[in-house]
Amino acid sequence: MYKVLVSDPLSKEGMHPLLEAEGFKVDVQTNLTKEELLDRIPNYDALLVRSQTQVDAELIQAATRLKIIGRAGVGIDNIDLSAATEQGILVVNAPDGNTNSAAEHTMAMLMALARNIPQAFLSLKNKQWDRKSFIGVELKGKTLGVIGLGRIGAEVAQRAKGQRMNVIAYDPFLTDAKAEKLGVQMGTVQEVIAAGDFLTVHTPLLKETKHLLGTEAFKTMKPGVHIVNCARGGIIDEDALYDAIVSGKVAGAALDVFEVEPFVDHKLLELPQVIATPHLGASTIEAQEVVAVDVCDDVVRYFTNQA
Ligand code: NAD
Ligand code: MLT
Repeated sequence: MYKVLVSDPLSKEGMHPLLEAEGFKVDVQTNLTKEELLDRIPNYDALLVRSQTQVDAELIQAATRLKIIGRAGVGIDNIDLSAATEQGILVVNAPDGNTNSAAEHTMAMLMALARNIPQAFLSLKNKQWDRKSFIGVELKGKTLGVIGLGRIGAEVAQRAKGQRMNVIAYDPFLTDAKAEKLGVQMGTVQEVIAAGDFLTVHTPLLKETKHLLGTEAFKTMKPGVHIVNCARGGIIDEDALYDAIVSGKVAGAALDVFEVEPFVDHKLLELPQVIATPHLGASTIEAQEVVAVDVCDDVVRYFTNQA
């Protein structure tokens, strides 16, 4: 019997029926310490994670029986791919199961940021009827700069056009044909950064995208720009963002992802111009079910083909 360790919370509805129907033994053990994980991993054939479990080289080396790692989501930056490959372990992800949820979350953050909704709600919860402090800005007629026009970036661009925003995007790997099909004006990264009244990033975190929005980029932005990051912490330099908000260059930021997570005790959270959610972009019933089904399908297929 193949044994599957699930070390981050995954949708039970998406996961259990598939694996159990095929006779897999599923152990859900979330919040394990690194030592506990190292101790238990040699007993398993498959490991299923979201973004919390750090599947580093040490864990992979201890995983002597492991054949496949399933990442229920897009980003595989918490998995050491070269260590896994060296050990002959297959890594699979669920690249499109949470696209819609992440795009919807981005739009929710964009609108909440434009209209100060979290700040106004907090004030009302504190029994203040304050209608002066939360004057917002409209999206209609404003320019949204989208950096990374892949699955989520493209969905956000379409939704922003529905809000009657002008959209300009940068993606060095997008074909002209795809850009034309999406009907989005493309520019260089400098052009997009300089044009946006709102900027949203939708790239993976790579060497090339680390601190893509940093001190130099903030200097070239429009005064009063609003920034959204529902992709990966580290694409925006958090210290540079803090300085740009304090200086008044950036009017506000909406952040779902952070350089170090959990992100609970940081100077950015003390700024009234910052709104934040704890990495909730993919956290919908629908997306979690689909990504769990997708990775479990891959696990079942892998072992069925081996049999
Ligand atoms: P995707 O692969 O479809 O799109 C990424 C795009 O970034 C691609 O089109 C690629 O060409 C582009 N890109 C790569 N390098 C670039 C660069 N240097 N400059 C500009 N663009 C570049 O991925 P996706 O599904 O759209 O996901 C985008 C990001 O969102 C990923 O980092 C993913 O992990 C993250 N994500 C976060 C959440 C969340 O919960 N907040 C949910 C889903 C995805
Ligand atoms: C992803 O890359 O898919 C996101 O970070 C969402 C998640 O892992 O929950």
